[in-house]
Amino acid sequence: MPADTITIIPLAGAMGAEITGVDLQGELSNQIRNDIHQAFLDHRMIYFRDQDLTPERQTEVARIFGKPAIYPFLAGVDGVPEAHEVIKTPEDAVNFGGVWHSDTTYKPIPDMGTLLYACEVPDVGGDTLFTNTTLAYETLSDGMKGMLDGLIAVNHSEKLYPGGRAKRLANLSGMKNAYKEESEPMESEHPVVRTHPETGLKGLYVNDSHTLRFKDMTVDESKPLLDYLCRHAIRPEFTCRLKWLPGTLAVWDNRCTQHYALDDYPGKYRHMRRVTIEGDKPA
Ligand code: SIN
Repeated sequence: MPADTITIIPLAGAMGAEITGVDLQGELSNQIRNDIHQAFLDHRMIYFRDQDLTPERQTEVARIFGKPAIYPFLAGVDGVPEAHEVIKTPEDAVNFGGVWHSDTTYKPIPDMGTLLYACEVPDVGGDTLFTNTTLAYETLSDGMKGMLDGLIAVNHSEKLYPGGRAKRLANLSGMKNAYKEESEPMESEHPVVRTHPETGLKGLYVNDSHTLRFKDMTVDESKPLLDYLCRHAIRPEFTCRLKWLPGTLAVWDNRCTQHYALDDYPGKYRHMRRVTIEGDKPA
């Protein structure tokens, strides 16, 4: 008989929590599913240790939070189109996700959440940093909040990839073959301040990786304010840091967080598997 309670252990003051007492391979009661979903809303990034998840099962677990999405740029693994691999080999000089961002803000309907599973990780290094963008918004002055009200940001999938994403991924020997040649660059406009559709909380919704400029402004004109907001959003007090172990599954809420994959393990191997969850139009 599966247990009907979970234990939640907060990771840091700003965000993040470990969930214990759950075997994600097994049958999950409605009560457990609801508790996990609530912990995700309350803590923004939750993680489970010692899980043994196939791509199919990881995609099934994603359904606790919503409908699994298909990532536009990378093919799935083991016949599961929603699950793609994130790999850095000892030969690779760059990583995937090593810039602060919220996933897929260049899509008209960005993914609301992400499940990242650690298949193989270095003994030390390769942690992921997260930041709480609700706190980032709430700690702005009333004057700044007023200025951001109604401001729209333009997000682009190739902001940091001169020559395109394919060229960037060609530098990652474990991932280049998964690139979908047919994929097109994507650009979308979203509010700079987003209201979370489930909690009603406002958060900053611009990021270093994908936000190019403000609508009706040039890149140069946008840069000073955009840089300020992106730096403010990652103040250490708003963050937490997750150390991966093989079998760790993390789930984060892209509507109210950003993350950054640390690239501090040269010459080592790191292999993760990612599934994202469909979201709704930011408002
Ligand atoms: C990502 O940006 O989704 C990847 C994060 C990571 O590999 O830690």
